[in-house]
Amino acid sequence: MKGVILAGGTGTRLHPLTRIINKHLLPVGSYPMISYGIERFRQAGIKDILLVIGKQSAGLYTNYLGSGESLGVNLTYRIQETAGGIAEALNLAHSFIVPGEKFVVLLADNLFLDDLTPYIQSFMKQGHGSARVLLKPVDDPRRYGVPVFDQSRPELISYIEEKPAKPKSNYSVTGIYMYDDVVFDRIHEISRSARGELEITDVNNLYARDGKLEYDILQLWWGDAGTFESLLEAGVRMRGVLP
Ligand code: DAU
Repeated sequence: MKGVILAGGTGTRLHPLTRIINKHLLPVGSYPMISYGIERFRQAGIKDILLVIGKQSAGLYTNYLGSGESLGVNLTYRIQETAGGIAEALNLAHSFIVPGEKFVVLLADNLFLDDLTPYIQSFMKQGHGSARVLLKPVDDPRRYGVPVFDQSRPELISYIEEKPAKPKSNYSVTGIYMYDDVVFDRIHEISRSARGELEITDVNNLYARDGKLEYDILQLWWGDAGTFESLLEAGVRMRGVLP
């Protein structure tokens, strides 16, 4: 199985730090943020990894990670020219994925303690053209994509609301997604949102509409290090995860 890590975007919520360096190279414990996602994939047996990065700091990524050999993975890089949204960044993985192949997508600012292996095993049992997301209960769901569960088929999500003012559950849809190549057709079905981005929630809602969006709930700590508070917490929680 292959993995795709999305590390584009502008990281404006972390200005002024991200004026000089890309968000996913900021320190979390003793390592740059990007290292943890690569290790989670390696741990789950995912060695062929595509890294989507922005132009900012692109040289620092290749200086630090190189081919991935020293980390036990094979890295391929793609550049997202402008921050046009998570689904736009994901679309850059199209030629990396073989038709029919399943793969895992990770937002590089998502840090977590779970091993992905059991969730990937559940996804492998799903049919072609379906998708799986991982959820986590959170204190303030208004910051995230929030799932609404199917009343008659509780194993399915019936839709996701992106950053709702009045969340209908206390779960976040984390930035860990599982798809096959059908996702690239789905991305072509969506339009840009009011903020001019191709939204991953719009893609996931096409699966949900068709009764093809399943989920698991992460057991251990998860956070998205997109704000100063969550970046600080991640530094503490992730200590010791890498040698
Ligand atoms: O962290 C989980 C949340 O991530 C989900 O609950 C939301 O449904 C999902 O939309 C996303 O929300 P954020 O507002 O946190 O997304 P953000 O714009 O901060 O982007 C998260 C990561 O995605 C970022 O660290 C890198 C990648 N990204 C983002 C954009 C906009 C790209 O690679 N390219 C992009 O153009």
